[in-house]
Amino acid sequence: MPERWTPDSWRARPIAQAPQYPDPQKLAAVEKRLSTFPPLVFAGEARQLKKALARVAAGEAFLLQGGDCAESFAEHHPDNIRDFFRVLLQMAVVLTYAAASPVVKVGRIAGQFAKPRSSPMEKVGDKELPSYRGDIINGHEFTEAARVPDAHRQIEAYRQSAATLNLLRAFAHGGYANLASVHQWMLGFVKDSPQSRRYFELADRISETLGFMRACGLDLESHPELRTTEFYTSHEALLLPYEQAMTRVDSTSGDWYCTSGHLVWIGDRTRQLDHAHVEYCRGIKNPIGLKCGPSVKPDELLRLIDILNPDDEPGRLTLIGRFGADKVSEHLPALVRAVKREGRTVVWSCDPMHGNTITSASGYKTRPFERILQEVKTFFAVHLAEGTIAGGVHLEMTGRNVTECTGGARAITDEGLNDRYHTFCDPRLNAEQAIEMAFLVAELMKEERLNKARPLAAAASL
Ligand code: TRP
Ligand code: MN
Repeated sequence: MPERWTPDSWRARPIAQAPQYPDPQKLAAVEKRLSTFPPLVFAGEARQLKKALARVAAGEAFLLQGGDCAESFAEHHPDNIRDFFRVLLQMAVVLTYAAASPVVKVGRIAGQFAKPRSSPMEKVGDKELPSYRGDIINGHEFTEAARVPDAHRQIEAYRQSAATLNLLRAFAHGGYANLASVHQWMLGFVKDSPQSRRYFELADRISETLGFMRACGLDLESHPELRTTEFYTSHEALLLPYEQAMTRVDSTSGDWYCTSGHLVWIGDRTRQLDHAHVEYCRGIKNPIGLKCGPSVKPDELLRLIDILNPDDEPGRLTLIGRFGADKVSEHLPALVRAVKREGRTVVWSCDPMHGNTITSASGYKTRPFERILQEVKTFFAVHLAEGTIAGGVHLEMTGRNVTECTGGARAITDEGLNDRYHTFCDPRLNAEQAIEMAFLVAELMKEERLNKARPLAAAASL
């Protein structure tokens, strides 16, 4: 029998990646205040996302999860939110149309502030300071003062999350996401790119289709599904004092929900079976993500699944592989087989970003577009071979015209990284590269479908 879970039962467990606050009283006061603030999401929405993810697990929809590596206070601006959202809409529309699959849209946004770090200290020259852990914890600036964890930042992160989510909800339901606007989502700077022609062709076909349906007598205005979209938020549940303060009982079901976002995930560095992050996540009813890197063993994964989804509830658990293009074919098949053998229901998603980070000759942390694509391709190939479902992708991307990942159709070079390298943390796909990736993923989805249809077609012809 597992021990009783409470929102604070994680506190009795060992914990990795936790900041040391210099002023525990201030931290306690912040937690107390946060726990009186309104929830950012409603339990019913988390259940709706879980249902949508259950469809992904069954191969009836595709998961598109994306956003910044880390949100920052400095870049909190309506234009950035809008530009991210329009690129995500563009990617979603490409996948929905080209692959004829419903797309579950989940942003790494409105709460993605805390970062696990490979080293607790950072050295520049001969100066050594505590590492930056994300704007919800300390400051990015390389000074002693900035790097001290400050609990008050949690209040600011809450405020920014609320404001961001408010705008995203308005966009998703207030008309911005209307399929009739499919042409307008193209960003100015992407307009003269190789991707834009392809995108406008697809947008033309959608407009044509809508026109055709209208001519057939269908009243498009009476179909809200054409005018609105469901958009969900997600982040890594790393800073547990914050997450606990946002954990509330849902009055309709009596269950506990983490109300700081619709889906939260456990990082590859904090997924120890008996540690705090797994303990916290097992008790909340939200859909949960689990990042799986090359060090996850099949047995360990099965035990994590037992803890996090004991009732095998479809849509509850999304396994997000992040192996690296050169390692995915070595590690993923054994995990997929073990989960299939035990008859467990999961969404398999592919994070092709975190296993493919390199340092460029010019000294920048970067990710080659080709390697990102290669990991996604191998992910699809493994699932095809194992007879399982390639459920989705998890990308670090931005609507801004940055130069952080090399390659893509515009072929950003090592030297080109210096132009607009803005990230606070990991390198992100820019708008153009993100749309290009969506077209390539759509092709893989189409291929997958053809491959699955072939044995059936052959059987039918007998
Ligand atoms: N409601 C549908 C969906 O979300 C169709 C849709 C409306 C849509 N606006 C969209 C799809 C924007 C993608 C992007 O899938
Ligand atoms: Mn990252």
